[in-house]
Amino acid sequence: MYESNKEYSAIFLKGMHQLSSITSPGVAKTFDLSPFCEICDLGGGSGALAYALASEYPDATVTVFDLAPAVVEAKKITPDENERKNVKFVAGDFFQDEFPPAKLYTFARIIHNWGLEKVHNLLKKTFRSLKSGGAVLIAELLLNENKTGPLETVFLDINMMVEASGRERTETEYRLLLEQNGFVDFECKSVEGHGGFHTMIAKKP
Ligand SMILES: C[S@@+](CC[C@H](N)C(=O)[O-])C[C@H]1O[C@@H](n2cnc3c(N)ncnc32)[C@H](O)[C@@H]1O
Repeated sequence: MYESNKEYSAIFLKGMHQLSSITSPGVAKTFDLSPFCEICDLGGGSGALAYALASEYPDATVTVFDLAPAVVEAKKITPDENERKNVKFVAGDFFQDEFPPAKLYTFARIIHNWGLEKVHNLLKKTFRSLKSGGAVLIAELLLNENKTGPLETVFLDINMMVEASGRERTETEYRLLLEQNGFVDFECKSVEGHGGFHTMIAKKP
């Protein structure tokens, strides 16, 4: 998309920024992330989650890792200086390049974009990139366990199947994906004020 339609890409990134600015403060508060002083938001887009994390945890540094064209557009969205202070952008491809070093990797609205093989690649690489005690955080809408709803997640499920190669998943599916890649101590909570959106965290033992 970034290569074929620059104008649409810029609109997409701004749209994601609006959406993510609504949910990110809640995502940053769902769990106590203060033990993680170095955070990397993989596919972090505009930086909305990074700014929320940096504002909630002023002692942490947050790196947004995204494709080069996204980073160019993201830098045009400038929050106030205080929010920007501990946030930096690194351009790269999370399938091809090494992840920037971090104690916590976050994926917001990323895992649902991809099919099983690519999800395993990403989680395997995340596990490898962490030291013991590090963690991964995933923020996504969840399907209920029998996949009959909620309606907004079912709509997004269809959207992901048509526009990307992904799908929406249940809490159990996310827990299994993380456990199959070595993560332990899985926890999942809904994001305050945004019932369908959930934050999940798991640790590297
Ligand atoms: C649905 S958006 C989510 C953005 C952000 N995490 C949020 O919640 O607003 C998906 C993001 O993944 C990024 N992305 C897609 N493929 C990528 C890749 N191979 N490496 C790094 N980032 C990628 C896109 O550029 C985009 O910013």
